[in-house]
Amino acid sequence: MSNTQEILEVSNVFKVFGDTPDRAMDMLRNGATKEQVLSETGHNVGVFDASFSVNRGEIFVIMGLSGSGKSTLVRLLNRLIEPSSGSIKLKGQDITNFKDKDLLNVRRQDMSMVFQSFALMPHMSVIENAAFGLEVAGLDKKTRQERALKALEQVGLGSYAFSRPDQLSGGMQQRVGLARALANDPTILLMDEAFSALDPLIRHEMQGELIRLQKEQERTIVFISHDLDEAIRIGDRIAIMEGGRIVQIGTPEEIMNNPADDYVASFFKSVDATKTIKAKDIAQNDAFTVSTTTTQAIDLTEVSGNYAYLLDDENRLVGVATMKQDGTDTLQSLMEQKMAVEYSLNGSTTLKDSINLVHQSSYPVPVLDDHGVYIGTLSKDHTLAILANN
Ligand SMILES: Nc1ncnc2c1ncn2[C@@H]1O[C@H](COP(=O)(O)OP(=O)(O)OP(=O)(O)O)[C@@H](O)[C@H]1O
Ligand SMILES: [Mg+2]
Repeated sequence: MSNTQEILEVSNVFKVFGDTPDRAMDMLRNGATKEQVLSETGHNVGVFDASFSVNRGEIFVIMGLSGSGKSTLVRLLNRLIEPSSGSIKLKGQDITNFKDKDLLNVRRQDMSMVFQSFALMPHMSVIENAAFGLEVAGLDKKTRQERALKALEQVGLGSYAFSRPDQLSGGMQQRVGLARALANDPTILLMDEAFSALDPLIRHEMQGELIRLQKEQERTIVFISHDLDEAIRIGDRIAIMEGGRIVQIGTPEEIMNNPADDYVASFFKSVDATKTIKAKDIAQNDAFTVSTTTTQAIDLTEVSGNYAYLLDDENRLVGVATMKQDGTDTLQSLMEQKMAVEYSLNGSTTLKDSINLVHQSSYPVPVLDDHGVYIGTLSKDHTLAILANN
């Protein structure tokens, strides 16, 4: 059964490079290692029995040492590399049997790739570079221009549309590459070390940009990185590869707390735990909440802290109320003493970035999802306890 959340489902995908992969595949199935296969058959194992799924709207990061198979894996997804065996389902449809035209559509509409270093065409303007690819897709000139300009605006380069690439900094050129992929409006963005060539400051800025785009547009992104800080910052989930295999998949926090083996542990050894923990993972939902559709009287004297969070009919946070007089309040009186929420946190904020707010706030800080829906709260005590444990 495929879950509707799953946009991409990869099952038992192998890639063996070489003319006669059959013998190598047999050896692999019988437990041979990548090294054994290479020395006995001369065939290089790129990806070994990869299975995972990517959910709609998530940033799925693939990490691993050089040569571990990351680029091979991501190129298998849109069949820039043909799998030796296994299946790849996009929105429930197996694309491993797709022929030329359908496959071309997959690459154009569903999975656009952003490479580590792309050559912008020096004689073409920025907007023409961003529109590159739309012409082949058969769009008329006006539509191409509109889509390219919109994509440039999304990456903050709207006013550079008619500049030449050589008038842009390296980071800006990289953003043109991102705009080119966005102009295609793909279902899934595949990014192979797309930020690796950037200097740290611009890289950090581009990561922020990507997180923002993903939130605003609910983009699904598969992102390759060999940088753990980057993986943790942008990844909803991370897959760790070693020698062609995926050795572990999980949220940064899950992997950090429970590394599958020494290889994974060694990656995470030097990581600051407060950067891997997200507010939504540690929010507690024992605070008192009141639905604005309620008709009951509420006795705030009985409530710990004497305050209540007010939620609308879709569980979005509309305010916080604290006790006034005797404490027995109706919803009406609660609404009257409702204060604007002093601080709230998006669920994907790291613990590290949450600490200041939690410290400053006079009540536990509510944690909300991207739509303002209440998840729970972070209190000073709880946050301190987690810090102490890490
Ligand atoms: N076209 C090819 N022919 C033969 N072997 C290949 C080919 N492409 C990749 N490989 C092999 O597959 C393995 C995985 O390579 P891949 O490029 O996927 O690694 P990677 O994790 O992306 O590394 P890096 O971090 O250096 O980019 C390596 O052993 C590599 O030698
Ligand atoms: Mg690579």
